[in-house]
Amino acid sequence: MNLIDGKAIAARINEETRERVLQLKRHGVTPGLAVVLVGDHPASIVYVRNKDRISQELGLYSRKVELPGTTSQADLLRLVDELNRDPQVHGILVQSPLPPQIDEPTVVRNLDPLKDVDGFHPLNVGKLAMGDPTALVPCTPRGCQRLLLESNVPISGAHVVVVGRSMLVGKPVALLLMQKGPGGDATVTVAHSRSRNLPEITRQADILIVAIGQAQFIRAEHVREGATVIDVGINRINSPSRPAGYRLVGDVAFDEVAEKAGAITPVPGGVGPMTIAMLMANTLQACRLQTGLHQPASPTNPSIIP
Ligand code: GUN
Repeated sequence: MNLIDGKAIAARINEETRERVLQLKRHGVTPGLAVVLVGDHPASIVYVRNKDRISQELGLYSRKVELPGTTSQADLLRLVDELNRDPQVHGILVQSPLPPQIDEPTVVRNLDPLKDVDGFHPLNVGKLAMGDPTALVPCTPRGCQRLLLESNVPISGAHVVVVGRSMLVGKPVALLLMQKGPGGDATVTVAHSRSRNLPEITRQADILIVAIGQAQFIRAEHVREGATVIDVGINRINSPSRPAGYRLVGDVAFDEVAEKAGAITPVPGGVGPMTIAMLMANTLQACRLQTGLHQPASPTNPSIIP
């Protein structure tokens, strides 16, 4: 079994990003990312801190905006509008979950699609579905694809089974891997919590991508011998022996699946670090789109545009 080291791969990609940021700076442009946190959701605080720290480490201009949990929708939309018009900001990420008084889809629709580094705006979702190389593609799906590419797992012609159908991961990763061209050309099946005979479906996978949000849901019986398993889940389970009182596990029962899989991502240290690396890459892409410095590495595949 080959352990896919997302942390090491992300570190390598971040080094490339640091170089590209320098190149852009030589053109007189500093790519800028604004991350907006509303309220004090504990996991979100950590995520936002990491995004801010890594963007600074890579030489980007980073703006962290923290708003109280009582912020009104109108105030948040005013902030989005300000950031949309701010030429120093090329990417905007509004961290979810948002408090209940705020309607997330409305916020997303009010982002400038060219600054939507999460790839959640309907225009970017549509562009991804159409195979438009200027689409900003959601970070976690891009991270999954890049992990496969960097690990030399053949995607073209492979049967990919995606478990989960969210707009955050399941749907976009399916669209991305079925696209024509490098990094795509897979045969994709999307299964979910209501799928009948799930183990029968998942056992057909050459590549199994799991984003269902249930701790250790995928067991050895779901996996064909030699398959590549990408575990997108991050779940806390009680573990009184740990200082924090919990530990993080994926949607895959790692120990038993690792015995059968050809390659597998760990949690933590698999997809997670790739998501942030792809956020940085998306911010560069957004910056290039906005400043006319866009040079697609591969016109057929948005995912490998640096
Ligand atoms: N919350 C958890 N993951 C994400 C993400 O990728 N983007 C945003 N905006 N919020 C999140």
